[in-house]
Amino acid sequence: MDTKVKKIGVLTSGGDAPGMNAAIRAVTRAAHFKGMEVAGVRRGYAGLIAGDIVDLSVRDVSNILQEGGTALFSARSKEFCTEEGMQKAIANCKKFGIEGLVVIGGDGSYRGAGDLSTRGVPCIGLPGTIDNDISSTDYTIGFDTCINCVVDMVDRIRDTMRSHERCSVVEVMGRNAGYIALHAGIATGACFVMVPEVKSTVVDVIKKIEEGRAIGKTNFIVLVAEGVGHAEELSKYIQDTTGVVTRATILGHVQRGGSPTARDRVLASQFGSYAVELLAAGKSNRVVGIRNDQLVDYDIQEALAMTKEFPLDLYRMCDIISI
Ligand code: F6P
Repeated sequence: MDTKVKKIGVLTSGGDAPGMNAAIRAVTRAAHFKGMEVAGVRRGYAGLIAGDIVDLSVRDVSNILQEGGTALFSARSKEFCTEEGMQKAIANCKKFGIEGLVVIGGDGSYRGAGDLSTRGVPCIGLPGTIDNDISSTDYTIGFDTCINCVVDMVDRIRDTMRSHERCSVVEVMGRNAGYIALHAGIATGACFVMVPEVKSTVVDVIKKIEEGRAIGKTNFIVLVAEGVGHAEELSKYIQDTTGVVTRATILGHVQRGGSPTARDRVLASQFGSYAVELLAAGKSNRVVGIRNDQLVDYDIQEALAMTKEFPLDLYRMCDIISI
């Protein structure tokens, strides 16, 4: 044993993301390797308040690596935002002997981890969200699986659009961010991508479609991030203005499920193992990320204050090559 920490907890919080299970497995096994016990907290912070906590052995996390979702369940807890709820959670950490906690989730989950850390429960945050909207990391757990799912779905939609010479408006998730739309847009050859980070109008979409038609393009995919929305209205507008038969598809939660890609499994395993290293070294109030292929960690408050530059160069490239 090379650490004084005897037991750590792990929980998943906020919207689930494929690869969270790979992170839970990595945390559990890396901790046991260091002689620490592991407690799995079910249903995120709500479970920490309720004491919904189970021991995790190395075998308990077998066969979850390849599964989407989270074996620990996830929830959003309003009670945890109150001082009373937080004190209950801290009391349960003491009761269950949890001396450090790995929190897998998005920005909201990081805030909770910061609050717990400042109240004496050492926490490490891992970025887990399909949205890829966390500033302190280039990539989040679940993003790669999500965009691969969107690419698969849009490719299918493209088949039928091509046969009927139609246009399809596809709305994808991402909350207030356009990373899913942009990356999937490049990978599917969408003729126009609408994201909250870049101002564009329906007139721009029509112009792009008409330019394509003028040089023989017969089918069109328009990807819209949910932060822009209005897929149905946009679809009707395109059909009414151009005469091209247009259909709208809102992909929804299909994007958040499925077996994680190899990339997400590797990333989640790296993040989970690194979080254990930090806790074992007595660190607290940190978040883990990846920058230029290097694992990094930051102070939670510092991470929450960071901003993420939307890759405008990629956006422009997408527009140029999708004619
Ligand atoms: O943050 C992940 C995410 O899937 C977003 O893309 C989306 O806006 C939101 O969660 C949907 O939340 P819910 O599953 O609660 O409807």
